[in-house]
Parts: sequence; C-alpha cells; structure tokens
Amino acid sequence: MQKEFTLSYEEYESARELSKADAELLRLAREVTEQAYAPYSHFRVGAAARLAGGSVITGTNQENASFPAGICAERTLLSVAGAQHPGVAIETLAISYRNENGISDRPISPCGICRQSLQEFEQRTGRPIRLVLGGETGKVIVIERSALLLPLAFSADEMK
Ligand code: THU
Repeated sequence: MQKEFTLSYEEYESARELSKADAELLRLAREVTEQAYAPYSHFRVGAAARLAGGSVITGTNQENASFPAGICAERTLLSVAGAQHPGVAIETLAISYRNENGISDRPISPCGICRQSLQEFEQRTGRPIRLVLGGETGKVIVIERSALLLPLAFSADEMK
C-alpha cells in the first residue's frame, strides 16, 4: 500500500502581510540575531517565542571552537523555555537570520535535530508550536505545528 504525507503551510509575500502579533515576533527574531555567537559560520540565527500566558522569550545560536558543541537558536530557546518557564507551552515561534556571507531574503526552517526537539516539546506540553519563518526581507512562511516538519518521528512512545 502506498501512503503519503502532505505538508500544508501558508506563504506570505512579505512580513507586512502578517498579523501584528506575528510581525512583531519576527521583528524580534531578526533583532536578536545581534546576540548570536557565530564566529565560525558567520550565520546568525534568532528565535523569538510567545508563550501561553503572553511571555516572550528569545534564543540565538551559540557556536564553539569544538564545532559539535555549538547549539542552534531554536534549541537555545527551548532550553530557556524549559528552564525559566517550566510546563508553559509555546504558542508561536518566529525564526530569522542574518547571513554575514550573503543575503537573507528567504525563510530558513529548523534543522533536523531542532525538529526532533521541537516535536518533543509539543508532546510534553500537549500544544502545537506554530512556526513563523522569514529572513530579513522576502517571503514568510507559517506552519501550524512544528511536528508537521518531522513525519514518522521517533518519540518516547516507541520505548514503552
Ligand atoms: N543554525 C540555527 O541556529 N538554526 C537553524 O535552524 C539552522 C542552523 C545555526 C547552527 C550554526 O551555528 C549556524 O546556524 C550554521 O549552521
């Protein structure tokens, strides 16, 4: 039997088409790229999230001379959420970036490890994490729940 997954998402021509709340979160994600520590890749990533209850938190990529020790902006943000706001769901997570080697005119989406971490965070809190993805300029995409980015995900259920 042939089966398939489909990924449906919204695409906007620019951040100007977003709701005020989403546009504000994406603007913050862009702004915090300044706090990234990316001396090796020169690729600064910023993440900003609105939590259930309204708090806003941010995260940026933090690299290391021992390259695998570096951490992405998304997982930095998830650690902030877990440590500073235990048990609180993330409603919307915006991700942006500044590429010091080039342009930033299209969305980037979370890497594979971050997708795994995002989907477990969703599972933990029982609430979907909505993603708003955009560069400094250009199109923006919105994905209703981050688990959509990781079909057939491995989870703790498999270890029962
Ligand atoms: N990076 C992120 O922070 N998030 C992503 O979604 C993709 C990649 C970081 C990791 C590394 O510091 C740099 O960007 C280049 O890969």
